[in-house]
Amino acid sequence: MTIPAFGLGTFRLKDQQVIDSVKMGLELGYRHIDTAQIYENEAQVGQAIAESGVPREELFVTTKVWTANLGADRLLPSLEESLGKLRMEQVDLTLVHWPSPNDELAVADYLARMMEAKARGLTRAIGISNFTVAHMQQAIDAIGAENIATNQIEVHPFLQSRKVIDFARSQGIHITAYMPLAYGKVMQDEVLQRIGESHNASPAQVALAWLLQQGFAVIPSSTKRENLAANLAARELRLTEEEMQQIATLDRNERLANPGFAPKWD
Ligand SMILES: NC(=O)c1ccc[n+]([C@@H]2O[C@H](COP(=O)([O-])OP(=O)(O)OC[C@H]3O[C@@H](n4cnc5c(N)ncnc54)[C@H](OP(=O)(O)O)[C@@H]3O)[C@@H](O)[C@H]2O)c1
Repeated sequence: MTIPAFGLGTFRLKDQQVIDSVKMGLELGYRHIDTAQIYENEAQVGQAIAESGVPREELFVTTKVWTANLGADRLLPSLEESLGKLRMEQVDLTLVHWPSPNDELAVADYLARMMEAKARGLTRAIGISNFTVAHMQQAIDAIGAENIATNQIEVHPFLQSRKVIDFARSQGIHITAYMPLAYGKVMQDEVLQRIGESHNASPAQVALAWLLQQGFAVIPSSTKRENLAANLAARELRLTEEEMQQIATLDRNERLANPGFAPKWD
């Protein structure tokens, strides 16, 4: 199973805003939608998809199991609830949203339950998110790298997450870059602005092209049609090796998604 390289994020978007964003995205040609139980917008994402008229088989839909739902009594029922809200019989990808806080639950145990969800047909594939090298190693030991469709992690020019990415690459695990625009901060960066000018592109497009050229999937979000369209057009932008190198120097370990229950980062 391959994950479409260009997806639409939905974090923070609620109610009419998420309905509008997903509908506009689908009209513009997005076919991969990223939601999560904790976003409290699965029902609106499902509504937008249903109303868009885009056939289900053309879409790639990801949801994520929240930490409170990783236990034996909650994982499968919570995913069934997600499917009900999304109005679908199966999602394409289900991720463990975060490792169990303080490793209260064992990686092997909740990944076994994720495998069961896949075996029961609730999801076509399973994956992980916010997993460190140590967590990835435990995941590989538990279910094998071949069963891990992706590790969805924060990656953008200011947080390049090289240790996790190098390890994932060495194990053949795909990477999905979340917050690829550093929540809009890329727009202010002078290096990205200068590279963009030489291609008649925006800094956001440069950041997305830089991620895509490394083989990652990207899932930027936007509430605006023009930004949704411009982001998708980043697929046409080709950066030179020199430009890729210049962006590599922007790493400053600036992590934006860092809740109190986050694992000990690499
Ligand atoms: N697995 C996880 O733990 C995790 C954590 C965080 C996020 N995610 C996923 O990753 C997705 C993306 O992250 P994110 O939404 O936090 O941040 P992001 O995609 O990096 O940035 C979104 C912000 O950038 C702005 N923006 C978008 N396109 C733009 C453009 N072309 N020019 C200028 N500004 C632009 C948006 O504003 P406008 O609305 O004004 O365009 C919005 O404020 C999320 O939606 C979610 O699906 C996953």
